[in-house]
Amino acid sequence: MSSATLRILIVGGGGREHALAWRCAIEGHDVRVAPGSAGIAEDATCVDIGVDEHDRLLTYAVGKAIDLVIIGPEQPLVAGLADRLRGAGIATLGPSAAAARLEGSKAEAKAFMRRHRIPTAESRTVSTLEEGLRALEWFEAPPVVKASGLAAGKGVTVADTLAEAEEALRACMEGQLFGESGATVVLEERLAGEEASFFVLTDGERARTFVAAQDHKRLGDGDLGPNTGGMGAYCPAPIVDAAVHERVMSTIVEPTLAGLREEGTPFVGVLFVGLMIDAEGIPRVIEYNCRFGDPEAQPLLFGAEVPVVPHLLAAAEGRLTPGVIRGRPAATVVLASAGYPRTSTKGSAIRGLEALADERELKVFHAGTRRGEDGGWETAGGRVLGVCARGDDLRQAIDRAYRACDEIAFDGMQLRRDIGGRALGSAR
Ligand code: AMP
Ligand code: GLY
Repeated sequence: MSSATLRILIVGGGGREHALAWRCAIEGHDVRVAPGSAGIAEDATCVDIGVDEHDRLLTYAVGKAIDLVIIGPEQPLVAGLADRLRGAGIATLGPSAAAARLEGSKAEAKAFMRRHRIPTAESRTVSTLEEGLRALEWFEAPPVVKASGLAAGKGVTVADTLAEAEEALRACMEGQLFGESGATVVLEERLAGEEASFFVLTDGERARTFVAAQDHKRLGDGDLGPNTGGMGAYCPAPIVDAAVHERVMSTIVEPTLAGLREEGTPFVGVLFVGLMIDAEGIPRVIEYNCRFGDPEAQPLLFGAEVPVVPHLLAAAEGRLTPGVIRGRPAATVVLASAGYPRTSTKGSAIRGLEALADERELKVFHAGTRRGEDGGWETAGGRVLGVCARGDDLRQAIDRAYRACDEIAFDGMQLRRDIGGRALGSAR
């Protein structure tokens, strides 16, 4: 593998893209991020082009002779940005719009899994309220209700009662809560078990995985409260032991990649498989995403010990070698602003960041911050910061992250106090 300095363009501007930019920069590459953020500008050069400005992104990548484009978020992938860039001969990490449909349409993802016999929850896809009400009767227990299209992680209701499921269905169909994204709804059997996030770097043919991670989707400790984009993550997740890893590869990852190839839509990029692992260690797919997870990318990329960028480039160029990207245990605790996930509060001063800048085993990734008039940091979004630490073991990483969180303060700051708690419990 060559260790030449690459010109890398990262598309996006959240915590995930900050982690990607940091990783590429410490591996010695010349990193630009569009649009980036004030926080990302500490580690890379930001370019004022939005993720949906495909023409300008293409012109920039060609003009600056970019060697590798990494597309962070799902929207530009579903909208075909990777196709545009690859069409112009630029090495791009991110699937075509046709392959990104696995995230863009839950209805299509379910149909794909059925065609290829990939283990997942039983489901019914409906496109009218009448159909939905009839389908509700088919389930023995209240089903999970999912708006089929992209809904920024907010289109899923895990109903405890049939009445709740019906209400969620009506909100999608009658209330048009998610607009076009909710015009089709997937009703799905509720699975029991433990969740894990599994990331597969692939050139369409071969796969190199990361160790499994675990996200914490609910706002509150003990998995209570509303769903969020993710309040913290850690890796490796002990629930995915060697046997489960092998099962995920043979029953899910390999058939998924083969199915995509067979259908003429090979997947080049990071395939994110959201798993539910039952008490017998059998994994099933909860959802596919077509990109790195946020915050999962933070501990995975901060903890990774080997150079990662050569693998990202190899995947984009169709010459990946199979294997696993391992690293040190790491954890991210998300600090969110008041009102998140319903609303967010902008403009609150953030204290304590400067004092943490020199810690080797710690990195604070910026998700929603900006510089205030006095030059200090302030909040600018729902998820504000990802406080990420690595350690010799998970406990050390988690303790380190929480010690740093205790140094940071802003009005209305919300965080979970139990990130990684499940892994620590099962490690003892
Ligand atoms: P998704 O946006 O599809 O990842 O769903 C959000 C969250 O809802 C998941 O992380 C799970 O916690 C939960 N969920 C989704 N589908 C199911 C299911 N079939 N059974 C149990 N929980 C689910
Ligand atoms: N953390 C979950 C996601 O990125 O979708």
